[in-house]
Amino acid sequence: MSTFPIYRPRRLRANENLRRLVRETELSVNDLIYPMFVVHGNDTATEISAMPGCYQYTVDRLVPAAKELATLGIPGTILFGVPASKDPLGTEAYAEDGIIQQAVRAIKDTVPDLLVITDVCLCEYTDHGHCGVIEANEVQNDPTLELLVKESLTHARAGADVIAPSDMMDGRIGAIRDALDENGYQNIPIMAYAAKYASAFYGPFREAAESAPQFGDRRSYQMDPANAEEALREVALDIQEGADILMVKPALPYLDVIHRVKTEFQVPVAAYNVSGEYAMIKAAAQNGWIDEKRVALEALTSIKRAGADMILTYFAKSVVEWI
Ligand code: PBG
Repeated sequence: MSTFPIYRPRRLRANENLRRLVRETELSVNDLIYPMFVVHGNDTATEISAMPGCYQYTVDRLVPAAKELATLGIPGTILFGVPASKDPLGTEAYAEDGIIQQAVRAIKDTVPDLLVITDVCLCEYTDHGHCGVIEANEVQNDPTLELLVKESLTHARAGADVIAPSDMMDGRIGAIRDALDENGYQNIPIMAYAAKYASAFYGPFREAAESAPQFGDRRSYQMDPANAEEALREVALDIQEGADILMVKPALPYLDVIHRVKTEFQVPVAAYNVSGEYAMIKAAAQNGWIDEKRVALEALTSIKRAGADMILTYFAKSVVEWI
């Protein structure tokens, strides 16, 4: 490559048309998945205090919200449920008429073109708030798999388009893939939360999904933020077990992990721009300290530049407005 003064990088930055022509990464509506929270009840949308602009919807209010996403051209939503009551085994997670199962049916009935992805986990449904079955004060891996399989099948029967296990139990992708296949759901893709870190950035979500652990933390099943090679092993396992889309979560503090997953595996990569990442930008913007639109677009573009093919983000609707 020639050097200064022959090569002057500023030449191609001189005006917007040149910048458009050499731009390497473009954020598009095609990249976006919008997460929504659903609760029991009627005609209610309760704003989540640490996530301005995001709501817990009752099913009747969720449907118009889903319609809005389709109208905006957003390809899909991922749904999280808050049950009527919680118990040690998270029973409502795999009830045929549980909150998510009802929500999926209602959306697929009225907005069939919107992709409905369901988060498969137990933490919103268990009274202890952990993502699996507890015995002797520990989350038990293999007994949890059976419940995750049941949950996935009820989601599939309700009409879910994509199943997204977020529990981080070992072996759950294989167990869920086998069960889906045996029950005639060979064509339902699995979006695996493959490299999911034990992150403090989930704080606002736990208010939204009412899913904070009641004792201890999630560090015996979610990953240590210090580890990247381990993320590659997790992703490799999930690919072997049949995952179709591999997720890294959170996104911004883990851009290196997104990049390494994309470079090493060449698979569809999803990144979850989580609740805390959203809340920080919202809070700073509300204080007038940063420009929300520019900061959010910069952050989301960086996630794509790192290698993500799709982004789960609470900014999805705003992005469509902005771009
Ligand atoms: C459920 C789940 C969590 C998130 C997605 N699925 C919370 C957690 O693991 O504690 C977090 C999403 C967000 O913060 O936006 N296990």
